[in-house]
Amino acid sequence: MKIESTVNAVRNQVKEWRKSGLTVGFVPTMGYLHEGHASLIQAARENNDKVVVSIFVNPMQFGPTEDLASYPRDLEKDSALCASLGADLIFHPEPEEMYHEGFSSYVDMDVLTQELCGLSRPVHFRGVCTVVCKLFHIVAPDRAYFGQKDAQQLAVIRHMADDLNMDIEIVGCPIVREEDGLAKSSRNTYLSEDERRAALILSKSIFLGKELVEKGETSTEKIVDAMKERIASEPLARIDYVKAVDGRTMQQIQTVQKPMLVAIAVYIGSTRLIDNFIWE
Ligand code: PAF
Repeated sequence: MKIESTVNAVRNQVKEWRKSGLTVGFVPTMGYLHEGHASLIQAARENNDKVVVSIFVNPMQFGPTEDLASYPRDLEKDSALCASLGADLIFHPEPEEMYHEGFSSYVDMDVLTQELCGLSRPVHFRGVCTVVCKLFHIVAPDRAYFGQKDAQQLAVIRHMADDLNMDIEIVGCPIVREEDGLAKSSRNTYLSEDERRAALILSKSIFLGKELVEKGETSTEKIVDAMKERIASEPLARIDYVKAVDGRTMQQIQTVQKPMLVAIAVYIGSTRLIDNFIWE
């Protein structure tokens, strides 16, 4: 497995593979890899001849008061995991390699980004779309893999790929959870012992919401209220949002429908965590 830090080196390698008729699967990440990322790499491994993983903490998708500086990083551990999963190449650029002096072109989206995380993180999706678009141009994969934990991100990227005629199959992979239910996230590492216990309230409320839908509840207000009440029972938790939206448009809905995304963002102490379930 190679580790490259320049755009040219990645391009040259992918061109060589292409000349031999090989397909390329791509897993974009910000590193500090966990089993959620591993499941994406495994999916890419199963369906492509070559697998590229990018590890880049993208400054553009963090707001000024967010955790860019403290975002966890461990290239050595990440490389070992990628190698053990059979990845062929890690792209690990410095910010200057991705954003040269005078950089001033962005990919922005009017729809899908004005709801859910877009409301509390106004610059986030512009940063995600811009970097993912750049990475797609650099790696030029056949398929790219994203986790459904970031359900809005997945919808936004699918939409961008469609709008901009990107010839890349976008593959969504299921949420991976800890044994006790907490969705895997690099940000779980910020949690103290007490906060780690309190963070279980996210998955508990997600499972409650899902159970209500399964039992036939059709009012999204009732589902959301029950989930909010459950989260409010945890003193360390502070709700950012709990919403039921159309799974394609991200617009709020009153009645349960398919596809529906029920998504939550909750602060546990100062750590903002997200979780969701999809009804389809
Ligand atoms: O999901 C992530 O880790 C990031 O948003 C992504 C897609 C790698 C873009 O920086």
